[in-house]
Parts: sequence; C-alpha cells; structure tokens
Amino acid sequence: MDNFRYCTPTRYVFGRGAEMEAGTQLLANGMDSVLMVYGGGSAERSGLLARVREKLHEAGIRFEELGGIEPNPTDGPVRRGIEMMRRGGLHALLAVGGGSAIDTAKAIALGVPYEGDFWDFFAGRATPQKALPVGVVLTIPAAGSEGSGNCVITLEEGLHKISLRTDEVLRPRFALLNPELTMTLPPCQTAAGIADMMAHIMERYFTPTPDCEVTDRLAEGLLKAIIEEATKAMSRPDDYEARANIMWAGTLAHNGICGTGRREDWTSHAMEHEISAVYGVTHGAGLAVVFPAWMTFMAMRSPGKIAQFGRRVFDVNDPDDTSAALEGIGRLKAFYTSIGLPVSFAALGVEHPDIDLLVAKLHENKGEEIGGYLRLRADDTREIYTLAD
Ligand code: NZQ
Ligand code: ZN
Repeated sequence: MDNFRYCTPTRYVFGRGAEMEAGTQLLANGMDSVLMVYGGGSAERSGLLARVREKLHEAGIRFEELGGIEPNPTDGPVRRGIEMMRRGGLHALLAVGGGSAIDTAKAIALGVPYEGDFWDFFAGRATPQKALPVGVVLTIPAAGSEGSGNCVITLEEGLHKISLRTDEVLRPRFALLNPELTMTLPPCQTAAGIADMMAHIMERYFTPTPDCEVTDRLAEGLLKAIIEEATKAMSRPDDYEARANIMWAGTLAHNGICGTGRREDWTSHAMEHEISAVYGVTHGAGLAVVFPAWMTFMAMRSPGKIAQFGRRVFDVNDPDDTSAALEGIGRLKAFYTSIGLPVSFAALGVEHPDIDLLVAKLHENKGEEIGGYLRLRADDTREIYTLAD
C-alpha cells in the first residue's frame, strides 16, 4: 500500500427534501450571490428549479441563471457563464443537475478569478490554484462530480474532451442528495449512471499496487451492492431504497476513497472520452462498451486482478486466473446487457467507428503512454477499441 493524502471537504445532505436546504447551505458557506447552472429541461419540468428558486429568494440570495447545459458539456456555455458572473458581480455557483451542469459550474468557478483563458487549465498551460465555491443539487447518480475534484469539458474546436483533476480546489462545498429526484430518470440514463459509477470504482480497483486489501474490499462491496440495487431500481424506478443506495454509491465511487493507497488506471475513461467527444454518446454507455474490452486485453496479459474481480464480485469459481478473468468479464457484460446497456460499438449506435481517429486523438490528448495497470501505447489502445467493435 502506498502513502497517501486524502481530504474530502464536501458536506453531504442526504435524503428526502434535501434540496430544500439550498438557501441555508449557500448562506452557511458565505455564498450569497450565485450563478445557478442547470441542464436542458428535466429540472424545470419536475418542479425542482421552482423549489430551489423559492429557497434562494427566501434566503435573500441574489442570483442569475445559466440553463440549457447539454450532456458532454462544451466550452461555449463556460465562457458565457464567466462573462455573466463578472458582469453581475456574482461570487459563487449552484449546479442543479448531473455531471454536465456541475462540470460547467466548476469550469466557470475556475475561469472567473483567472486572468487568462479558462482552457489553459485543461490544456495543461496553468495549474488550478483557486476557484469560486460551488454547491450542488444532484439529480442523477453517475459522474460523481458532486464529490470529486474533477471537471470534464469538451473544447468544441477539434472536439477535445479533457478531464481536469484537482485534489481539492474543485470539490464542491456541499452536495444536496435527494434520491426521490432520480425517480424521473429515463431507464437508459439510470443504467448509464450505474455503468459510470462502477467504472469509477474499477479504474481504481485495477491497480498494480499490491496489498490494498481494505481499499479492495471497499470497492468489491460497493460493486456488489450496486449490482444488486441496480436490478431493483431498473425494475421499480420509484423504489426509494434502491434509488438511495445507488445515489450514495455514485458519490462514494468517485470521491477518492476507493483509490486510497494505490496507483489508479483510467485508461477506459480516457478511451471513452474520445468516443463521447466524437460521437456524442452518453459517457456511461460508452464505458459499458470500452471497459470489458480493456479487461479482456488485460486478461490475456496480466489477469491477476481481473481474476480477483471475477471471483470476488461475480463469485466465479475457477482456479485458473485467465479463465476466471474471462468468466468474470462475461458475467459483467451479461449484467450490463440485463439493464439495457450496450456492450459493443454497434449497440452503442456507432456502426463504423473511426478507430484510427479515436487512437490518434487519445494519444494526442493523453500522451504516448497511458494507464496505470499496464502502460499502453497506440498499438495496444487500437487493439482494445477493436475488441469493443
Ligand atoms: O439536461 P437535462 O434536461 O437535465 O437532462 C439530463 C441529461 O439529458 C438527464 N437528467 C438528469 N437528471 C435527471 C434527468 N432526466 C430526468 N430526471 C432527472 N432527475 O440526464 C441526462 C444526462 O445528464 P448529465 O448531467 O450529462 O449526466 P452525467 O451526470 O452522467 O454527466 C455526464 C458528464 O460528466 C462527465 C462525463 O464525461 C459527461 O460529460 N464526467 C464527469 C466526471 C467528474 N466531473 O468527476 C467524471 C466522470 O467520469 C465523467 O467523465
Ligand atoms: Zn466516468
């Protein structure tokens, strides 16, 4: 187990009616002039935005709104938000929605106090030192951005989707988590969220660092619970307990606890970000296609941890590592299929993926060698994309 530092300063308010604390939590954090950032309409339709606006008015918070953020958010709305905040003299952000609204808010939070172009942080030309405070009302358990220090934005010019990782600067001050809000999710979004949170755990589980038994067991326990609760939430969308378990799992999957003490991998995420940048697919659905392909590649070269996954998460009973690994991958794919997720490019709606383009962009954005479990070069990532086809 490696040395580590771990700080997760986000205050979580979890349960029915959590969004009703939006005003009080903002005030408690000194956030009294706010840009509220939200998505394409679901929060308006459900009445959530009306409730949040009312709470902000009650608390005497001055606010403006930036709505219409689309999935796989781009730099355009970030630039608009930076302008709005500077012009209006606003000092904090409230994201209402999922990863796309939250990440847009985070990028604005970085950009407002920075003199240069906010993309400098994503292009590696500047290191994030400070950001305006961000609060969250979460409506979809998936990206885990409500507890993470990460932010993923696509630069429209050239379709560069980049994940910026900070330890603490971008962690939200608070996150209000009401599982009832997730009952209106379309089944495909519930399922994609489940694939995404599982991937956040697996990116940390597949590590070359030995002897992380506690972190391994945390990851395995979470994965087993997600698989069990997912089936319930998919068959009964209004099952509060299933929705609650899934929602908390989504946060724990990505707030860093499952990575403590070890090197992480993140190849599947990097490979998926190219797919969602180029083809506009849902991130979690893309992961359901890429991750099993990555695991299959690893099962043939370094099966140890993949076999452990099969045995401990899917109860595979096979003494041979390679076949235990392959059996575990088969069961993972069967699970994905059972909740309606795609496990091939074609099922994802990408009939003829331009694998050369994906590989070229991947290594242009992420470097010649990527990954933590095994280091991979272009020939390797091409093989993985091909396995997913
Ligand atoms: O836009 P609206 O109308 O709100 O609809 C959204 C959107 O179409 C809908 N939705 C959300 N909550 C709903 C709802 N529909 C009905 N009822 C509700 N309660 O769901 C759709 C997806 O929303 P989005 O915010 O895009 O989902 P998600 O949370 O999966 O975020 C995806 C983005 O986050 C990035 C992804 O790459 C992608 O860009 N990620 C961010 C991470 C981070 N910051 O730590 C890590 C992740 O690995 C990921 O890369
Ligand atoms: Zn993800």
